[in-house]
Amino acid sequence: MEANMPKRKEPGRSLRIKVISMGNAEVGKSCIIKRYCEKRFVSKYLATIGIDYGVTKVHVRDREIKVNIFDMAGHPFFYEVRNEFYKDTQGVILVYDVGQKDSFDALDAWLAEMKQELGPHGNMENIIFVVCANKIDCTKHRCVDESEGRLWAESKGFLYFETSAQTGEGINEMFQTFYMSIVDLCENGGKRPTTNSSASFTKEQADAIRRIRNSKDSWDMLGVKPGASRDEVNKAYRKLAVLLHPDKCVAPGSEDAFKAVVNARTALLKNIK
Ligand code: GTP
Ligand code: MG
Repeated sequence: MEANMPKRKEPGRSLRIKVISMGNAEVGKSCIIKRYCEKRFVSKYLATIGIDYGVTKVHVRDREIKVNIFDMAGHPFFYEVRNEFYKDTQGVILVYDVGQKDSFDALDAWLAEMKQELGPHGNMENIIFVVCANKIDCTKHRCVDESEGRLWAESKGFLYFETSAQTGEGINEMFQTFYMSIVDLCENGGKRPTTNSSASFTKEQADAIRRIRNSKDSWDMLGVKPGASRDEVNKAYRKLAVLLHPDKCVAPGSEDAFKAVVNARTALLKNIK
């Protein structure tokens, strides 16, 4: 599948889909789309005013796909303009900047905005979401690591890609997988195929990894009160070790979380008589 493949007309096999981009202002939504469709990068920031609309044709397997792309403005100022465009969407490109923690933390609010606009009858389950951890070329400023982003995305059944609109890294792979998943969805009667929708780890494992990552000290990491006994520390440790053991847990970041738990236990036991 390529954006510029020769046109093939196959009646009955063509498909029309709607795709939108979402994410904070300046994270690179427009540049990602431009990099894929026009194979170029513009370093000057030109804020999207409300919505940019474009049409592109791609081929996935033997199908010609006409893609209507609605590139949304991330700035809160444009809420009134973009809120009309959430309906009838098959795919969402959800972007954050790996050097801006705020833009990662805002992803939940973007999902909430979409959910609100779709209303009580809107169904977010049958939309393909791809999360782009963008600007990976800016390695010096990176503050959201891959496992954190991947964990967030995969625990929701979303695709995850590391991208750079500047260098082009990850962009083609992201769009290819994204469009392929949308075609699978359409061929599955508009329902997300089950293989894509369920993460290969549990919510309990994902929550534990997040809690460990954000813990302020070793007590907090093991989930025990400061001054807890050896038994309490060991019990809490064993529970987390079973949950996160690398042989059993494939959640992104589980290996680091497991190591951190081992170190926390060692540090605490040293000081408990
Ligand atoms: P809004 O339209 O305001 O919502 O912003 P946007 O998310 O569309 O951001 P846009 O694509 O306009 O990019 C914002 C700025 O980030 C521009 O100055 C881009 O050149 C820059 N930028 C985008 N992607 C990348 C990237 O992968 N790496 C680097 N280094 N800069 C990028
Ligand atoms: Mg834009």
